[in-house]
Amino acid sequence: MLEGIDMERLPVHIAIIMDGNGRWAQKKGLPRVRGHKAGMEAIRKTVKCCSDLGIKILTVYAFSTENWKRPQDEVNYLMNLLVEYMRKEVSSLHKNKVKIKLLGEIDILPHQTRREIEEAVKLTKNNKGLQFNIALNYGGRAEILKACKSLIQDIQNGNLDMNSVDEAVFSNYLYTGSDPDPDLIIRTSGEQRISNFLLWQGAYSELLFIDRLWPDFDENALYRAIKEYQSRNRRFGALK
Ligand code: FPP
Repeated sequence: MLEGIDMERLPVHIAIIMDGNGRWAQKKGLPRVRGHKAGMEAIRKTVKCCSDLGIKILTVYAFSTENWKRPQDEVNYLMNLLVEYMRKEVSSLHKNKVKIKLLGEIDILPHQTRREIEEAVKLTKNNKGLQFNIALNYGGRAEILKACKSLIQDIQNGNLDMNSVDEAVFSNYLYTGSDPDPDLIIRTSGEQRISNFLLWQGAYSELLFIDRLWPDFDENALYRAIKEYQSRNRRFGALK
């Protein structure tokens, strides 16, 4: 229920570790991939709900740099699911002014997945509504390392003065660029880990671990998460 949410103090940026698809399917006696399919539906609802609420940025962890270790069939299924999601959703996302952005290394994704995502990013790049970040082939440590390498390169090329490097300058080398850090990071399924997600950006994020499995996440679960966030006392290391 929306009731009880302070619309003046919404989190600007919500990030989600969508965990529990496999267990959801297993509990129902279905193959794991059916959990991912249901997880896609939960993404659709969450994007719509964030967009309707006026949240500025939603980031979802769709595929980590470690997820390649899963069985090939499951990896293929997830890559195809992304294609399906883009084909089905992109026109309605575009209509709703959603801007799609990719966080991660796109180069080694299967051709079709890459093409579909690149087209969606291109189509929606000037939209001013919800920014929907999809972390895909993403790892927080890899992101920081990549940022360090490009930063060093810029210093060596004489394009950047080392003395001017502060946290804001460094942040600009990350996939998230100048986007504000996540205010709230939600992980579903009861696991309490960050799993290499937004390591730099999440330094001061409120963390919320909920027991619900990702395919069961819906509008009410999001409203509850926002209310919990609003009940917290964020101090950023200072005193209140
Ligand atoms: C975690 O559940 C879920 C994933 C690794 C994949 C999430 C991806 C999607 C729902 C695909 C579509 C993405 C977009 C952006 C359209 P798990 O498999 O680790 O669950 P388990 O811990 O119960 O095994």
